[in-house]
Amino acid sequence: MSLLDDCMRRAVRNDIQGLHAYAVQPSAGLVKLDTMENPHRLPPALRAALGQRLGEVALNRYPAERGDDLKAALAAHAGLPEGCALMLGNGSDELITLLSMACATPGAVFMAPLPGFVMYALSAQLQRVPFVGVPLSADFELDEAAMLAAIARHRPALLYLAYPNNPTANLWDDAVIERLIDAVGQVQGLVVMDEAYQPFAARDSMARLLAHPQVLVMRTMSKFGLAGVRIGYLMGRSALVNEIDKLRPPFNISVLNAEAALFALEHAGQYAAQAALIRSERERVHAALAAMPGVQPWPSQANMVLARVADAAATFAGLKQRGVLVKNVSAMHPLLANCLRITIGTPAENEQLLAALGQSL
Ligand SMILES: Cc1ncc(COP(=O)(O)O)c(C=O)c1O
Repeated sequence: MSLLDDCMRRAVRNDIQGLHAYAVQPSAGLVKLDTMENPHRLPPALRAALGQRLGEVALNRYPAERGDDLKAALAAHAGLPEGCALMLGNGSDELITLLSMACATPGAVFMAPLPGFVMYALSAQLQRVPFVGVPLSADFELDEAAMLAAIARHRPALLYLAYPNNPTANLWDDAVIERLIDAVGQVQGLVVMDEAYQPFAARDSMARLLAHPQVLVMRTMSKFGLAGVRIGYLMGRSALVNEIDKLRPPFNISVLNAEAALFALEHAGQYAAQAALIRSERERVHAALAAMPGVQPWPSQANMVLARVADAAATFAGLKQRGVLVKNVSAMHPLLANCLRITIGTPAENEQLLAALGQSL
């Protein structure tokens, strides 16, 4: 046993030593339809303008007021209500971590419906907070009775509702969500409406933010078109957001990230057009999948489609062999048996997917 081994074993938390690092699927050379990225880039002239702009940024300085400019631009973009504040995270992933840290009081429990976004449970685990996952119904709707019972029993400090949900891609019933928000309020907990997929959805949670002080709305620029830039934002009543913001590392948003995000918001029309194309392609892909024998796609309000096939492992391998990478989510939850999650790509990528799928089934 080396000194390094001895030191690691004593110094690093045991539960961390037992964890596997988050694995990113290798994707070089493949049509990448696995992580809900926007497949479109900016036109060459705008890319050149962005390059010029980033070249002017003072990299020798720590991030300063430009972060405030970005917060103001995002507040205007999202329509942040009066009395609310917005904080920035290095992606929503960081915001989830900060929320977990802020709410990891002794005896706290965090909750989310399952299947859902994996970071809610992982981040709870990292803070040593028990996570309660409440199964969705077989058609991926909220199980209201089970949720209300779980809220009454566990009194969660945090309830995450991804709206639309990942990987099921649906928007849940608004009346049910209202009742869950009320129930969490009664046990003095917080509800995080995670709107990562808002650019592709028919509805959002801004009205809830206005109506309920215990609601936070979290969004990201990732699915909008800047997954590589890492900008997430959390909105809620100012007093509440200010508490979470105390945990934020002071320089968490790099000057390059802030500038790139500001540039993108100045060209929000480009991104809105990309989102519109993705939404129309989503409907086309959904219809094509529904017409394939042996494929059951669910309706989507996001930039992905969840589909069940007879043998997800074999279909995943067949697609990959034909150069298309999707996500096999079968092992994530029993409700997802033999399900693939397919990100919507460019029209040409979607054609390639559909052709490869036809051959792989
Ligand atoms: C529901 C949901 N929330 C948050 C995220 C993370 O987004 P970000 O890239 O901002 O960390 C994802 C990523 O896939 C997601 O599916």
